Amino acid sequence: MTPLRFFVSCTVAAYSLCLGQPADANYDEANVPAYVLPDPLLCSDGTLVTSAADWWSKRRPEVLRLLEQEVYGRTPAAKKLKIVKTERKVRVALNGKAQCKEVILEYASGGARVVMTILLYLPRGRRGPAPLFLGLNFNGNQSIHPDPEIQLTQVWMRNDSLYGVFNNRASEKTRGVKARRWPVEMIVERGYGLATIYYGDLDPDYDDGFKNGVHPLYYSQKQTRPMEDEWGAIGAWAWGLSRAMDYLVKEPGINSRQIAVIGHSRLGKAALWAGAQDQRFALVISNNSGCGGAALSKRIYGETVERINTGFPHWFCDRFKRYNGREQDLPLDQHFLLALIAPRPLYIASAEQDRWADPKGEFLCAKAADPVFHLLGNAGLNAGSMPAVNTPVGDGVRYHIRTGKHDVTDYDWQQYLDFADRCFKKKAAKAAFK
Ligand code: GCU
Repeated sequence: MTPLRFFVSCTVAAYSLCLGQPADANYDEANVPAYVLPDPLLCSDGTLVTSAADWWSKRRPEVLRLLEQEVYGRTPAAKKLKIVKTERKVRVALNGKAQCKEVILEYASGGARVVMTILLYLPRGRRGPAPLFLGLNFNGNQSIHPDPEIQLTQVWMRNDSLYGVFNNRASEKTRGVKARRWPVEMIVERGYGLATIYYGDLDPDYDDGFKNGVHPLYYSQKQTRPMEDEWGAIGAWAWGLSRAMDYLVKEPGINSRQIAVIGHSRLGKAALWAGAQDQRFALVISNNSGCGGAALSKRIYGETVERINTGFPHWFCDRFKRYNGREQDLPLDQHFLLALIAPRPLYIASAEQDRWADPKGEFLCAKAADPVFHLLGNAGLNAGSMPAVNTPVGDGVRYHIRTGKHDVTDYDWQQYLDFADRCFKKKAAKAAFK
């Protein structure tokens, strides 16, 4: 290599890394191998599902089981946990536009204990209970808004001097550092509520051998880590979303039938998995979720199964590691995950520079789930090819690729709010759902 080429390739690699896009991955369509996607409507006994009844009684349970066994791991069956709920005083926030409160839910079993804090905003002065977005956050509840009254998250957090995380604990400096990704004012002005939880409340995001977080709540006697087909961290985060849902559906200010689950990146994977398992979520939104989320694994574009299992060995179940470098052997692909959300509305969003998350693979994944959505009476994505940037497509399943990098922007939120308006306002919804 000439010194100039060496310099250019080093610069490209450094730039890609800055964007969170490792350079040594496949970003070339010409290198995408020929692959065959399993048919979500083809049952294991070789019969094809042709009615909604067969989907619900026969095929859907199979698809769910496959995802549990091979990818995310089984979430343990419900168990009686000791639950304690404490609510901090309701207060007026956002210059009078919202009511805000923090709800602390504590779960215990044996010697294990998990505490999660839901930060909840509801619009003031609205007639009737509000529809709501629920999503996990990366840096603590206090990071989503500079309001000094929000409790500072006390549990483990990845060090980040830029964002004010030192010695694995959030400092006062973390207040509002992620406000850009959570436009609370815009959300409440549009008549929606917002609930968020720090994902580390449920399971810290490092390979701790599953000693902390929710896993120990469910260990059988002498068990010290999940079995190879039991849940990893993504399963734990999804569990937290469902536990929050248990609370939210009972909150009088919230319309329990209009709760959307949303997540970005690894938390987009968790939102999809929560939406797939828990049908109380009326709308599911994946923002740049990529590999192990809304992107097809068999395309081997950007992040691969081996890369994700190596970088984040605690996210999926151990059995998923069998597919390292062997994506073609997977008896499913991520369109099975999306199919489990049908017939509820679904939004998949990509970003142009986020090649690591394979935008085209996310689009094709949504497209491959269409037969299930159609069978169940949702108009689906119904788009032939990738749309141009900043041009959302799809009726009951919506997709956009926005300009820019791996992130959550106001543009993304505007689309989610518009889509939620269409889904939740009965008349418009009728047109989208045949
Ligand atoms: C890494 C990881 C992705 C993940 C992302 C995130 O880039 O490889 O799979 O989605 O982190 O959560 O920000």
